Amino acid sequence: MTDIVKLSRILLGLATAAGALLCTSGGRTVAAEPPLNNFCRTSAPSAERIAAVSGEAPGALLLRQRCTVCHSLDRVLVREVDGPEKWARTLKKMRAYGAPLNDEETGVLQAFLAGLPSKPAAAKDFTRAGHFRRGLVWTANEVGRSISGLDVQLGKEVCTISGFANPHNITLSTEGARVFVTDTGTEEVLVFGTDDGHLIGRFKAGKNPMHVFVTPNEDRLLITNANSNEVTVHDYGTFEVLARLPVGDMPHGLTITPDSRWCYASGQLADDVTILDLNLLKVKGHIKVGRAPVAPAADGRNRFVAVAALRDGQVVKIDAVTQKVVGRVKVDGLPGQVAVSPDGYYIFSGNQVTNTLTVIDAKTMKILKVLEVGRWAHGLGFAVNGRSLLITNEEDSTVSVVDLHDLEITKTIPTGLGPNGIAAAYPLILTPHW
Ligand code: HEC
Repeated sequence: MTDIVKLSRILLGLATAAGALLCTSGGRTVAAEPPLNNFCRTSAPSAERIAAVSGEAPGALLLRQRCTVCHSLDRVLVREVDGPEKWARTLKKMRAYGAPLNDEETGVLQAFLAGLPSKPAAAKDFTRAGHFRRGLVWTANEVGRSISGLDVQLGKEVCTISGFANPHNITLSTEGARVFVTDTGTEEVLVFGTDDGHLIGRFKAGKNPMHVFVTPNEDRLLITNANSNEVTVHDYGTFEVLARLPVGDMPHGLTITPDSRWCYASGQLADDVTILDLNLLKVKGHIKVGRAPVAPAADGRNRFVAVAALRDGQVVKIDAVTQKVVGRVKVDGLPGQVAVSPDGYYIFSGNQVTNTLTVIDAKTMKILKVLEVGRWAHGLGFAVNGRSLLITNEEDSTVSVVDLHDLEITKTIPTGLGPNGIAAAYPLILTPHW
């Protein structure tokens, strides 16, 4: 991406509480066009918070100059409850992603961010609205602090649950009866029934829970905890912790093989993927994959696992039998999540700053197609009938629907603000034979 393109993204940055738009870039303040960016439309950050980051304090200048290269400041502004420890970890991760900061500047910025005025993170209770039912696709709307239930056929949001702090990732149980949400603001995992959206349970896992997954046999829940460097294994029914397994520094995503035997979890600062044996509840080993790996994804037949190394801009393939890296391909634009079509033919990579979805032939590791999607293309999941792939466009607050047969985009569905994770069908359903 050219600097000009990057800059134009940055100009769509900040909103005032009154809703008038003032977006900042590299220390300059400019009036933005009408709200093209949904992030700009959010009234989430308070006027005090916006005033503080717009000021001349050294931390504010660093923030505006160094933290708007890849994404808008809204991503920072919505982190209302993060304290110094959490900011230290986030800054470490952003440096690993390529944010230009030395140690001294990091200290200044950390203190500034932790001292920003904030407001209470989340409502005490969750509120439900709309028509709930099974078979919907769910998004975790990090900015809107809600989750959306989408009807893909109708092409619209049909229900919503609000009252989260920063809902990050979301997953469905194998049968689709429950939806699980990680809230990185309150560091809780929330469990809802999909039939009517009622809260079934809430519990703590480790520090800063990121991604959550159900084993295909619906026995256990697995959660990556970015700030305690562990995958916690929970009983599916009681949520009780069965094991805390150490994984590479700053774990983010995880995947479980269809036989429920192995878990692969990425360590963003360790540049590795840790393999966990779920029968023995032990670490099997670590594989170096490349810099800042985000979220691995298994195929539907226990053959391989794919993961994107964000800092290297590569999608990497790991053989599930030899547990070795067997292929890699360059993709542009800070790749985040990947998905493997359940038949194992395709690997899809969401590329966040080029707003594209790359379709890779999993066998040859060659790029077959690059589709234009929305801004900050991030979360990936498959629709219940296995015929389409869905991707969240975080900065457009939409989901693009990709037909898996024609590899074309068929619709774009509006969601709550800033959809990050997406839960469609349980990921291991088999793609139909065409
Ligand atoms: C090189 C690109 C890049 C730069 C520069 C950058 N970020 Fe990020 N940032 C990302 C990416 C990519 C994500 C999405 C993270 C994910 O989903 O793992 C992100 C996400 C975030 C989040 C959301 C929470 C999280 O942990 O995912 C926060 C907060 C954040 N960035 C803060 C900052 C701050 C503060 C700076 C300035 C020091 C900064 N970023 C600079 C790439 C960047």
